[in-house]
Amino acid sequence: MPKPLPASSVFTARALVKTYGEGDTAVHALRGVDLDIVRGEFVVLLGASGSGKSTLLNILGGLDTATSGSAQWTHDGQAHELIGAGDTELTRYRREHVGFVFQFYNLIPSLTAEENVALVTDLADDPMAPADALALVGLAARKHHFVSQLSGGEQQRVAIARAIAKRPAVLLCDEPTGALDCATGIMVLQAIERVNRELGTTTVVITHNAPIADMADRVLRLADGRIVDSLVNAHKVPASTLSW
Ligand SMILES: Nc1ncnc2c1ncn2[C@@H]1O[C@H](COP(=O)(O)OP(=O)(O)O)[C@@H](O)[C@H]1O
Ligand SMILES: [Mg+2]
Repeated sequence: MPKPLPASSVFTARALVKTYGEGDTAVHALRGVDLDIVRGEFVVLLGASGSGKSTLLNILGGLDTATSGSAQWTHDGQAHELIGAGDTELTRYRREHVGFVFQFYNLIPSLTAEENVALVTDLADDPMAPADALALVGLAARKHHFVSQLSGGEQQRVAIARAIAKRPAVLLCDEPTGALDCATGIMVLQAIERVNRELGTTTVVITHNAPIADMADRVLRLADGRIVDSLVNAHKVPASTLSW
């Protein structure tokens, strides 16, 4: 029997293992990860390149599955096991409940900011208006601009607006500032911070910039496929004060 979950748990992973390939060429991306993330929490995931951060995030987001172990996602008091779930179930989970932000924005350059967000809200059940999502990330004045007319930081904020406009339960960000300079990256982090605070979206951000950890409620450090450290920030700081 699994242990009872804390009431507000959103993700609970136990003994999560991910191995790519077999035999001599096997790569052990995750070697037994235990993890609990609670509703509304802002978690930063740190770790060297190759330590398993993206693999873990992709499993939590239903983009990939594990070799063994358990990863439960709890919504409306119902726990759903992601490991072993079918493609249809995972696709639905991703579409309805997960917002993703990656290092590269993957926007459609020939559409405006608002049209890019509308591509997602047109498919969602109870979305925000695209203009409201753009306002939340500080781009109200840019909604009619084509993506090709926006800076990298603005494009990433459009990507955040697109990710959150469907009001997902969780926002998963893999190196969202990886392609940006510090000043621009801070504006992107402020947008993520505001979404977490104002919408209560449970948020996980992967970064290799250690100072970004200061804005988290909790910092998890991965090394060689294991969580080696979990630290609660007694005083988390606003993204605006960070530098790296
Ligand atoms: N599709 C894949 N096939 C084989 N090995 C992979 C694949 N994806 C990731 N890996 C390996 O798994 C390990 C963890 O990768 P990853 O989760 O991307 O790490 P991080 O995001 O921390 O840089 C690395 O050794 C990486 O090379
Ligand atoms: Mg990665």
